[in-house]
Amino acid sequence: MGAIFQSLGRTIVAGLVVLVVILIIAGLGTGSWVPVGEHAWWAFFFRWLHVLSGVMWIGLLWYFNFVQTPSMPQIPDEQKPAVSKVIAPRALFWFRWGAMSTIVTGLILAAMMGYIGQALSLQKGYHAIGTGMWLGAIMWFNVWFIIWPNQKKALGIVQVSPEEKAAAAKKAGMTSRINTMLSIPMLFCMVAQQNGGF
Ligand code: HEM
Repeated sequence: MGAIFQSLGRTIVAGLVVLVVILIIAGLGTGSWVPVGEHAWWAFFFRWLHVLSGVMWIGLLWYFNFVQTPSMPQIPDEQKPAVSKVIAPRALFWFRWGAMSTIVTGLILAAMMGYIGQALSLQKGYHAIGTGMWLGAIMWFNVWFIIWPNQKKALGIVQVSPEEKAAAAKKAGMTSRINTMLSIPMLFCMVAQQNGGF
């Protein structure tokens, strides 16, 4: 048992195994099995992948804003590289790929639900998910085209002058705050669609 939890990879596989066991027990109990032949089930499968990806992305966004950034002033200068050179680059890796996976699975899901065009053009009945998708898309753009390029300068992954480094850190921080603000209405709109929309 201990060997499973000493490895992150094995822990994730264990999570999938627990899921399969739950589905088998549910199938035995109810007599109804996962309907893999049905389109609706695959849409649901992508919804699950989408929410997993979104948790990875927004979880790390909130970690940066609620935990890491406010802690930095309390960390002595000689210990700061532990965050900037070790923790932040790893967190940013999962952060930006979480964002990518969220938008890709979200767009696939909207296409599978048959409303991607209506949602993106904000047609009647699709205001909630359409607004959520546009807010999410803006946030995804901010991650890949503002936060990540500026973080590369701020963390010293790309070498720039000290002035440029300070300006990049400020820009990345402000954009991260903007995404934190947008995450609140974005998530409201995202879950509103299933509940009647607005
Ligand atoms: C980046 C662009 C995004 C796109 C294109 C997108 C797209 C979608 C779509 C099409 C749905 C299905 C709505 C429905 O018919 O009920 C959905 C649901 C959802 N999305 Fe997103 N989404 C995005 C970002 C996010 C993010 C960042 C999160 C953060 C966790 C998220 C969390 C959710 C949740 C929780 C649901 C509801 C699932 C449910 O009620 O079963 N989405 N999204």
